[in-house]
Amino acid sequence: ADDGYKLWQRYEQVQDQAKLQVYRQAINELIVQGNSPTLTVAHQELQTALSGLLGQTVPSSQQVTKQNVLVAGTPASSALVKNLGLTDRLKAVGNEGYLLQTSTKNGKNYTVIAANTDIGVLYGSYHFLRLLQTQQDISNLSIASAPKIKHRVLNHWDNLDRTVERGYSGFSLWDWHRLPGYIDQRYIDYARANASVGINGTVLTNVNANALVLTEDYLKKVAALADAFRPYGIKVYLTARFSAPIEIGGLKTADPLDPQVQAWWKKKSDEIYSFVPDFGGFLVKANSEGQPGPQNYGRNHADGANMLADAVADKGGIVMWRAFVYSEDEPDDRAKQAYNEFKPLDGTFRDNVLVQVKNGAIDFQPREPFHPLFGAMPKTPLMMEFQLTQEYLGQGTTLAYLSPMYKETLEADTYAKGKGSTVAKVVDGSLDNHKLTGIAGVANIGNDRNWTGHQFAQSNWYTFGRLAWDHALSSEQVADEWIKMTFTNDNKFVAPVKDMMMNSHEAIVNYMTPLGLHHIMGWSHHYGPGPWIKDKHRADWTSVYYHKADEKGIGFDRTKSGSNAVAQYFPPVAKQFGNVKKVPEKYLLWFHHVPWDHKVNSGRTLWNELAYRYSGGVDDVRQMQKTWDNQEGMIDQERFQHVKQLLTVQEQEAKWWRDACLLYFQTFSKRPIPQDLEKPA
Ligand code: GCU
Repeated sequence: ADDGYKLWQRYEQVQDQAKLQVYRQAINELIVQGNSPTLTVAHQELQTALSGLLGQTVPSSQQVTKQNVLVAGTPASSALVKNLGLTDRLKAVGNEGYLLQTSTKNGKNYTVIAANTDIGVLYGSYHFLRLLQTQQDISNLSIASAPKIKHRVLNHWDNLDRTVERGYSGFSLWDWHRLPGYIDQRYIDYARANASVGINGTVLTNVNANALVLTEDYLKKVAALADAFRPYGIKVYLTARFSAPIEIGGLKTADPLDPQVQAWWKKKSDEIYSFVPDFGGFLVKANSEGQPGPQNYGRNHADGANMLADAVADKGGIVMWRAFVYSEDEPDDRAKQAYNEFKPLDGTFRDNVLVQVKNGAIDFQPREPFHPLFGAMPKTPLMMEFQLTQEYLGQGTTLAYLSPMYKETLEADTYAKGKGSTVAKVVDGSLDNHKLTGIAGVANIGNDRNWTGHQFAQSNWYTFGRLAWDHALSSEQVADEWIKMTFTNDNKFVAPVKDMMMNSHEAIVNYMTPLGLHHIMGWSHHYGPGPWIKDKHRADWTSVYYHKADEKGIGFDRTKSGSNAVAQYFPPVAKQFGNVKKVPEKYLLWFHHVPWDHKVNSGRTLWNELAYRYSGGVDDVRQMQKTWDNQEGMIDQERFQHVKQLLTVQEQEAKWWRDACLLYFQTFSKRPIPQDLEKPA
């Protein structure tokens, strides 16, 4: 049965016969000299993949015996690579980069995968395979590639009982019960998938942390996972529960300035390194949503982060300290809190601390303007946190290709150092000259047979890795690759499905939260509409707090006359967002309370525009259904039916959103639904 388990690594025989012949001719022999664990897996992957893609075995050899040779290695591991004259070009690709190069020497033709390190060779091997999987020309290769961001990390919100916070694809992959003795093949396949897109770190545990994972029994299990992942270049990280010194250490306090507490963390870190010599470090959520933190002791985030940073510094570890703070006291505008708490701390963090910031200031909404902290802390490396799991995006039933959403944030201009100071440049360190850089994706992976619940959710795992490596890639290109590798190269399938993916995020925004609306989902679980939610014991846990609909209009005034959150942006951005005439319409109700009869770009009134957007979103889902139905027979029935059924569910959900929101907001607007629109049921 085809259940999608193989992700984008199916390695089926190349469909185009002409291309197949060319590839067969170009690759008569495979030479991978050297036998480190990483080179061994690169070799195995090339062998397996080539025999699948070419439909014939490519013999491996240690020396050149054939005319057309595929060579993979480093100058250190391979005399062949060393003598191919790539030394200068290799200098430019650094520790993880690689070259794919066609060359001839002594009458032989070489396709070379060369790198400075073994992991570079593995990454290059996956790139080369991708070229075959997507049927590219390989006759004249001259490709150099290196990642733009150093730490490319998945964040698993996985609990030790294997439930997954905001997980919609089964239970946690980590089978703690059978670890460390049993290494599930899934761990290897997970590592292969990650390495194929350049993901080089994984945080195994939930940010709402359990200190138990730091005890010896669990550390043995963590070590077994780290051993399994190591050949694939993946470092393991853990979440550190701030109160661990009390909970598992028997101390009376977790005050970061207490010498006993500092000593406890140092000893604990040394113990972790004794099990996992290349342990990556800690991810911490502190003083947010009830998690303990330094503020419990009158200290600040830097005090907390620095204590942990000192504990891992001598081993090369890092601390990823989250800026998603959400305090006990009700704020005047929740969107302002992270900036207010963190900006004053700029310059006070240790060198091995990254502050990890969500893409937007509220919480992974279907659409958010970029977080005002980006650009505002030039002395601190800021790490991007995207969510791959679809907490607020329809969860397990919705087809959402999220590259356009990620790119929208990365390409946003902060104006921190004038025009062109994009969020991407903050994150990749180029704006403020940071060497330590990082990007995190909250994983959507579980033990479902297809890993991600929805077949198309695999594309977000893929995309995260590809954009983490190179944020300049276009969403179209990433989708194109993913579709070809996951389904087929047949353009009758690729073109319409790519269009469908490209429009999928906007469709959801329209039927859930058009024009800058946000956080009007169902209470607590965040599934389905709930704009009517009020009377919770704090205002920012209600929906009415976010949309503020009344008889005059709708939207959150974040300008001077309201919370003035716009002032957290640099002046050119603040001016634009703060002006109801200039703000991009997609953020209109994020920043402004707007009268129902206000004219928007289309010339319609705001009320009518809302109705058109909600309806348009439903229509878009129906269009997606048509597109998909047309593909029947182009791919296997299993995956076809899986997507078809889920699109039927999604269409019902879209209608549910449209009807619930329009009927609810109509109680304030007191205006009719435009004649030509389908009436809410
Ligand atoms: C959201 C989510 C929580 C999660 C939190 C976080 O609020 O609903 O489940 O713990 O984000 O990012 O820490």
